[in-house]
Amino acid sequence: DTNTRKTPLMLLIAAPRGFCAGVDRAIRIVELAIERYGAPVYVRHEIVHNRYVVDALKEKGAIFVETLDDVPDGVPVVFSAHGVPKAVPAKAEERGLDFLDATCPLVSKVHRQAERLVKNGQHILFVGHRGHPEVIGTFGQVPEGSMTLIETVEDAQSVSPPDHGDLGFLTQTTLSVDDTRQIIDVLRERFPSINAPRSEDICYATSNRQDAVKAIAASCDAVFVIGAPNSSNSLRLVEVAERQGTSAQLIQRATDIDFDWLDGVATLGITAGASAPEILVREVVDRLSERFDVSEREVKTTEEKMLFKLPRGLEAA
Ligand code: F3S
Repeated sequence: DTNTRKTPLMLLIAAPRGFCAGVDRAIRIVELAIERYGAPVYVRHEIVHNRYVVDALKEKGAIFVETLDDVPDGVPVVFSAHGVPKAVPAKAEERGLDFLDATCPLVSKVHRQAERLVKNGQHILFVGHRGHPEVIGTFGQVPEGSMTLIETVEDAQSVSPPDHGDLGFLTQTTLSVDDTRQIIDVLRERFPSINAPRSEDICYATSNRQDAVKAIAASCDAVFVIGAPNSSNSLRLVEVAERQGTSAQLIQRATDIDFDWLDGVATLGITAGASAPEILVREVVDRLSERFDVSEREVKTTEEKMLFKLPRGLEAA
């Protein structure tokens, strides 16, 4: 029996992990658009930040582009789950393009809040990561100058918002829960009358995945986070694991596994970002099983039942 020669490896698999309701819905929208319109369907930006997902949709007839300028006239276009500045649907309308908006409803909720605050004369401090498409999309909901980006505690300490009118804050949906709490504490201390969002902007999926990896990390010698390097929520999962004192690596899929790095690891934690499909988790476990005598245990910190409706019109498809 070759198994007896393999080193034992205990896998603690975090749950919830992987796809959130917003990612599920966004992928479904592209699939249904292809069914309804026929290929090709254009998608502005990676529908979700995962190469495997993008490649699978390319196979089915999706074409991914970065700007609307790359979409030819007369073909349908889908906007990614991260959301888009208002100018994008406006431009699509102007060109008479059929567009479908796969923006996660929880991102849209932040968009509407931003609009409302600005309409009420408030200046917004927006906690998020510069350059992330969600941040670009949210900034694009309000006139330039009505929102200031806060990336760090230092930014919160030094920001000097315009001194007329009220202040409010909003956040990106995929931030570190712990870092954001610190940033908001500073904002509340400096600006005691700052208006807080009615409910937490960091989404349920982001906080659940962070809680879940936190619950396993301390019992693990190392943690793999399956996700893409441009996926904000996946990067945050690496940080959360590391802050428990455990080394963590972001891997896109099984071929990224560095077996040297697993030297001396007896218990390995595994989780996956909100845009990483479960098939990649299984692929990693299978690859590990070739080298190790693997036993698996799933550690579930909460049950998720979130499900988002498809845009009107597509449901019927
Ligand atoms: Fe939406 Fe959160 Fe997923 S904002 S796309 S539910 S990570």
